[in-house]
Amino acid sequence: MAEGAGGPCARFTGVFDSGVGGISVLRHLVRELPSEDFRFFGDSAHAPYGAKAPSEIYELSCAIADRMIADGAKALVIACNTATSAAAPQLRATYPDLPIVGVEPALKPAVLASGTGRILVMATEVTLALDKFHRLSDRWAEGTEVETVACNGLVERVERGNLDAPDVIELLESLIGPYRGKVDRVVLGCTHYPFVRRQIAQVLGDVRLFDGGAGTARQLRRLLGQGGLLCDEDRQGSVSFASSIDTPGELELYRRLFSQPC
Ligand code: DGL
Repeated sequence: MAEGAGGPCARFTGVFDSGVGGISVLRHLVRELPSEDFRFFGDSAHAPYGAKAPSEIYELSCAIADRMIADGAKALVIACNTATSAAAPQLRATYPDLPIVGVEPALKPAVLASGTGRILVMATEVTLALDKFHRLSDRWAEGTEVETVACNGLVERVERGNLDAPDVIELLESLIGPYRGKVDRVVLGCTHYPFVRRQIAQVLGDVRLFDGGAGTARQLRRLLGQGGLLCDEDRQGSVSFASSIDTPGELELYRRLFSQPC
């Protein structure tokens, strides 16, 4: 059962993204930690973050994090590769006692998975440009052939919610079609992209797809456990949604994406 006021279960984990993408991570969080309470915020009014200046992404991310912490969050998940790259170190420095989990492109598992071909990393312009990705690549991908593609326009199409629209496949064809037959592992380095994994596989054919959702959920479990912040396991957790586009239709889209299988 939930503890009384002030106990770990009186408080929630805040999860945020530039928009709907973080819901692909939230699904893993709820599957891994069904007794926890999660509050999701999608900044869809400002999406996409991935082509903005890092300083603007930092400001937007800090404003969301500050609000969630003021509302009583016991932990934060930055369910956005772009915001993690632009803001996670500074947020951890500002809130040293708060568990803050970020996401990063799942390059490590893709490298460690056996394969004979090259790896393709799909991500936003900012994620691919910032130091965090270069450090990740230097650490794990030395000696592995890695291609990167900034998928401009894809986040906007996922935000629209019509994932089977012809222009989704058309855009994917122009962005990643040239890699068909040339890569065997694909890293979905933006949390929006798991929502179009079927369409990505349709364009690329026989490839293995990697995303960071499950690893992020395990990391949150570890940090909550270390901090004595886990709720009792016999308790039923909850999920709530909020968006900077505060309309019933937008929140309906959030719930629809959340109900899709991981
Ligand atoms: N979902 C985000 C990510 O993981 C950001 C996408 C965007 O807003 O450009 O990078």
